[in-house]
Amino acid sequence: MDDIAATGSVTAAGIVVGKATVADVPDIHAVVTVFADRGEMLHRPLNELYENIRDFYVAKDAQGEFLGCVALHLLWADLAEVKSLAVREERQLKGTGAALVRACLDEARQIGLPRVFALTYKPGFFEKMGFSIANVMEFPRKVWNECYRCPKFPSCNEIAVAIDLSADAAPRAAAAALPVLNGVAPAVDRHSTLR
Ligand SMILES: CC(C)(COP(=O)(O)OP(=O)(O)OC[C@H]1O[C@@H](n2cnc3c(N)ncnc32)[C@H](O)[C@@H]1OP(=O)(O)O)[C@@H](O)C(=O)NCCC(=O)NCCS
Repeated sequence: MDDIAATGSVTAAGIVVGKATVADVPDIHAVVTVFADRGEMLHRPLNELYENIRDFYVAKDAQGEFLGCVALHLLWADLAEVKSLAVREERQLKGTGAALVRACLDEARQIGLPRVFALTYKPGFFEKMGFSIANVMEFPRKVWNECYRCPKFPSCNEIAVAIDLSADAAPRAAAAALPVLNGVAPAVDRHSTLR
């Protein structure tokens, strides 16, 4: 059993989810690359994975075999993004994606984040996880930072989904919100990008 068994949570199906370590980066890079090459999500170069490895969770089976990954990336006091969610194709539909997203939502609640969103081509999966379709215009400009390096920019049709955790999260921090668009459309047709 891998090290994450010592720190991660284990589902009834024996999926172990825990914080990623630098040793997981090659597996994370490989699974993200498979789906990014198909245009289903954004590539994450190795340097970016190492720089952001503390955002990541990984899922492994009882034998320590890598199943998939996800990142929870904080944007501000009241908002975080679920990104780079990927489960190895041959291991999908066994609860791994759900376990990974649950780990992100648990952490968001623990640190008092009231809202988590994702930009996705799989809204049905996220709806099963309690997310609802959202208007991407609600989110701060910072959300679009990565759009410029997306191969689909500016014509992307990802769907924004969000979940409100405020009912059971700590009160919102008193910090000012990031500047939002205030209803003014940016100079692109679509505003989301592959994650
Ligand atoms: C989306 C993805 C992470 C789902 O992972 P998974 O391990 O197969 O999902 P789970 O087995 O945990 O599924 C949880 C529930 O969601 C459902 N589900 C899974 N994929 C779904 C989809 N594409 N659309 C609708 N529902 C879906 C499952 O049937 C299951 O429902 P149930 O609880 O009623 O049985 C996986 O398909 C994947 O890695 N896809 C490629 C990369 C990608 O698109 N990532 C998302 C980028 S935001």
